[in-house]
Amino acid sequence: MAILERGALSWTMQGKAPAKINLALEITGTTPEGYHSLRSVMITLDLADELRVTGRGQEGARPEIRLEVEGGEDDVPTDERNLVVRAVALLADETPGNWPAALDIRLVKRVPSQAGLGGGSADAAAILRLLGAKRGVHPERLCELAARLGSDVPFMMTGGAALAEGRGERLRSLRAPRSWWVVLVQPPERIATAWCYRRWDELTARARPGGAEGKVDGLAVALQQGDLAGVAGNLYNDLQRPVFDLHPHLHQIPVVLREGGCAGALMTGSGSCFFGLASTRAEARGSAAAIRRRGLGQTWITRTWREAE
Ligand code: C5P
Repeated sequence: MAILERGALSWTMQGKAPAKINLALEITGTTPEGYHSLRSVMITLDLADELRVTGRGQEGARPEIRLEVEGGEDDVPTDERNLVVRAVALLADETPGNWPAALDIRLVKRVPSQAGLGGGSADAAAILRLLGAKRGVHPERLCELAARLGSDVPFMMTGGAALAEGRGERLRSLRAPRSWWVVLVQPPERIATAWCYRRWDELTARARPGGAEGKVDGLAVALQQGDLAGVAGNLYNDLQRPVFDLHPHLHQIPVVLREGGCAGALMTGSGSCFFGLASTRAEARGSAAAIRRRGLGQTWITRTWREAE
């Protein structure tokens, strides 16, 4: 976070909104609100959107929000369908009065949308962090507001690595002593999160799957030991099933990522983005090139978060 200027009638703050991947995602049941309860290991990536917010004008009850999006696909909304706008509205309800007349928000999109990378959630968390601190909202209260915006937003408030439970809002921080290379693959097919969970319910209505058999805990241990082979061996995502059921050809993506040199590969969240993990940049590049040769999707190379020493 950085405050760039301060004047009587104008100030600007900016921050990053990093993407995440789910290294493991096990569905364990349903919550009282009708969501799915999860056990999921999430980790932040270097790939990030950027957000800059400028407050202008005399103080008012609520700010007029003007959101401008640069980059990304054409379909990134700039009205209340965008979680950034909803986050500001929530903060305005929470701390009424004394707002600038207008908030100009410039969002530079680098994280693909509807991909399972938490791009929209990261943007919402970034604006909550920036404006929440300025408005003096207690961090715990900010996390409650975050949970109202979406299941992944609480994790995005701090990022790093965590085991998420409940519908994603109960977090236990994990260590990550090593950083690995990540190849992201975005196929043209997009998946809506709500559809993905619903379809999982349908596909498992008769016979609930056996569960992840210790993979989530195995993954958390391997991550904290910096053991890439252990992480690769425990990658797990229940939501791959509905996505592969709808688009069987997507099976090729993790196969090609592994053949190209990645230690392991998996779909992230509710998809449809996949990731491969590699220990060297050369392996990551080799895998990305293999994906592009086969025309399986757009690729990015980035890294996983690592804790500061
Ligand atoms: O919380 P979020 O807005 O990301 O969730 C989108 C949709 O995904 C929810 O409306 C719900 O249908 C489904 N979902 C779920 N269980 C979760 C997270 C999301 O059923 N833990």
